[in-house]
Amino acid sequence: MSYQGKVVFVAGGTSGINLGMAEAFAACGARVGVLSRSEKKVESAVAALNVHGSGAMGFASDVRDYEAVASALSRTVDTWGPIDVLISGAAGNFLSLASQLSPNAFKAVIDIDLLGTFNVLRAAYQHLRKPGAVVLNVTAPQAWIPTAFQVHACAAKAGVDQVTRTCALEWGPEGVRVNAIAPGPIADTEGMRRLAPDPAIANALIASVPCRRYGRVDEIARVALWLCSSDASYITGVVLPVDGGWSLAGSAGLTQAVVTAGGVG
Ligand code: NAP
Ligand code: COA
Repeated sequence: MSYQGKVVFVAGGTSGINLGMAEAFAACGARVGVLSRSEKKVESAVAALNVHGSGAMGFASDVRDYEAVASALSRTVDTWGPIDVLISGAAGNFLSLASQLSPNAFKAVIDIDLLGTFNVLRAAYQHLRKPGAVVLNVTAPQAWIPTAFQVHACAAKAGVDQVTRTCALEWGPEGVRVNAIAPGPIADTEGMRRLAPDPAIANALIASVPCRRYGRVDEIARVALWLCSSDASYITGVVLPVDGGWSLAGSAGLTQAVVTAGGVG
């Protein structure tokens, strides 16, 4: 698959699944801009992207800061031209019972995942190549599978899915496709370190996945390459689970495992 000379911007693209997607686009020839809070992570992601030799830029900013996001996008477009692929994947999550979660903790996750996604799409809109651009939001099965200990992420990602569908409706006539990818449990990620911190929880989670294993970052990245390509040119407004079937079975197995392991604060 070629993305030679295309401009790709990945919000939250400095680690884990999002960095995996950013690197996959870079390996296919794209110029890739990434944004996240940590200067150190931004520097290291830009170094990893530069290995592919197609061009990389990084911005140490918070998706909750609209002006900072807008500035990063403007600088990207001033250097490389209109954005061909926009990925919004910044997120925060942790395990907590709803009854013990502070309003500020709930707000933090809503602000990063949902408001952050709106900020990224809203600020990028004027810079998207029209027609032809593709937007890909990173959601999670928790958006439609109620999952104990994750009321904050469930609510935030449900909002991300509706932002995806609504923007697909509004931007389709201008030739912009808007989709979302919903990874299941992916190995060696911060998400799984937080959500299945104990081997007993991880094993119970794996047992509840029809494919009986965690997914890999490259399995998400390859679907992202396809969904943003002309091979998927008639797909918009879709939330695509790439989860080994986890969302078919619901969250009861995972919940029971967390409870059995002693629960969380
Ligand atoms: P991760 O490595 O922690 O990725 C999150 C990224 O977002 C990091 O680059 C982080 O960098 C950035 N970020 C966080 N808060 C931010 C903010 N306020 N402003 C800007 N950037 C911010 O976690 P991951 O597990 O790979 O998750 C990546 C995406 O996949 C998320 O959208 C997550 O919900 C989704 N997902 C993951 C899994 C899984 O199994 N891991 C499953 C389903 C969905 P900084 O810390 O530098 O800001
Ligand atoms: N359990 C319960 N509450 C928690 C928590 C946890 N594990 N971690 C943080 N909080 C609460 C804080 O106590 C605070 O609430 P308070 O003011 O009522 O005390 C609130 O959340 C905000 O915390 P803060 O540290 O100021 O937020 P932040 O904006 O710096 O960080 C987080 C956001 C909390 C989501 C942080 O975990 C993060 O940066 N995550 C990004 C990486 C990640 O989660 N990756 C996986 C993606 S799936």
